[in-house]
Amino acid sequence: MKRSDRLGILTVGMGAVATTLYAGVEAVRRGFTPGIGSLTQIGRLPIAALPGTPSKPISEIVDLAPLAGVSFGGWDLLENDAYRAAARAAVLSPTDLKRHRKFLSAVPAFPGVADPRFTTRIAPKFAKKEIGKRAQVEALRADIRKFRKMTKSDRVIVLGCMSVEIYQPPQPVHRSLAAFEKGLDVDDPTISPSQLYAYAALQEGAPFVNGTPNTTVETVALQELAKRKRLPLAGSDFKSGQTYMKTVVAAALRMRMLGLTGWFSANILGNRDGLVLEDPQAFEAKRVSKTTVLDDICSAPEYPALYSSIEHLVKINYFGPRGDNKEAWDSVDLFGWLGYPMQIKINFQCRDSILAAPLALDLLLLTDLAARRGESGALPWLAFFFKTPLTAGKMKPGNNPSVQLKVLESAIVRLGRKRRSA
Ligand SMILES: NC(=O)c1ccc[n+]([C@@H]2O[C@H](COP(=O)([O-])OP(=O)(O)OC[C@H]3O[C@@H](n4cnc5c(N)ncnc54)[C@H](O)[C@@H]3O)[C@@H](O)[C@H]2O)c1
Repeated sequence: MKRSDRLGILTVGMGAVATTLYAGVEAVRRGFTPGIGSLTQIGRLPIAALPGTPSKPISEIVDLAPLAGVSFGGWDLLENDAYRAAARAAVLSPTDLKRHRKFLSAVPAFPGVADPRFTTRIAPKFAKKEIGKRAQVEALRADIRKFRKMTKSDRVIVLGCMSVEIYQPPQPVHRSLAAFEKGLDVDDPTISPSQLYAYAALQEGAPFVNGTPNTTVETVALQELAKRKRLPLAGSDFKSGQTYMKTVVAAALRMRMLGLTGWFSANILGNRDGLVLEDPQAFEAKRVSKTTVLDDICSAPEYPALYSSIEHLVKINYFGPRGDNKEAWDSVDLFGWLGYPMQIKINFQCRDSILAAPLALDLLLLTDLAARRGESGALPWLAFFFKTPLTAGKMKPGNNPSVQLKVLESAIVRLGRKRRSA
């Protein structure tokens, strides 16, 4: 392996998604399993636009960072040991936990930045002692430098996969980088911990990927910093289970010019993410990101006869016995020719983190690739992986997965060409 192949991945949060990502990457590189669910590990692209043309593995089209050179670390408020965190998350089987115990126990863990105003259901046990946002940012930056040194990483990238913060749309302090930096100095209470991590990452030269619904990469301040530092940003909120299915089915109905009157989505889940979402203010962040996905797929302005009055409800209930194995129900009320009503029922018994971990890996490898190719600011071509994708200028891939996939594939081809011409 070339020295320039070592990529350090720091996760904000060492919970179910993060530990499933760490163990999954280790399982793939030790040859226990192929990278199921991951486009970058087993996906292929056709070599020409014509239907039926042969395809090539994505890994041969673009020079993604090799898994052999990946190291992990993370911040958390509860856990200082990724093995214990993985055991508590109860996603991995006892066999997998035992198999990866040594590896997980060696993942460096740093105390996180706690702010009980933003995560009301977490009682921190492992938090930074620094008081004041400026001091906290400096401590996070020191962690990144320490991690880079201890893992001998050539590059570091940061993944936001911490608990959902209470919903807060951008405030005056987020309107410019100057306002944000002044806010750090005066301890502005509207700067959230997730924003401190993203700011620290960018200042240390690390791109930031937001897998949560937290308002982080959407802020003008952080986008301005990313541009200034020539680093990419990606987000937000993994589109992993129920919402992925929702966008697939909605796009299928729209393709056939079938109308919708209602979409009721219910979920039960018993992991810590579910517990945090019991707080109505945190749930609001998830509700916003889950309910906006139909807007552009159904496009009421273009098809008022089909989509002008959709009743769209999303409910999430914490239900302990289910753990990370979320169960989701969708009841879809649609109508067809002559306005006759019909219904679709979807019952997805999924595993939240098993679906999210390969998305996280794809996002990290593709964002790292974009950084190496000199792309900076929001990366809207990664929309395929998110519920509320970032936009940039006229680039608004929306929520239709087949459109998003085409946009993603052409970006991969473009980045592959840049490599050949580099
Ligand atoms: N699993 C999925 O399919 C999925 C899909 C979309 C989005 N997400 C989002 O990904 C995130 C992680 O999900 P999860 O299932 O791993 O949750 P989790 O509760 O298992 O893990 C989150 C971790 O973040 C830590 N944390 C909370 N506040 C922190 C802070 N200020 N600093 C550092 N760490 C902090 C918690 O202690 C916890 O260990 C959540 O925001 C969730 O909504 C998950």
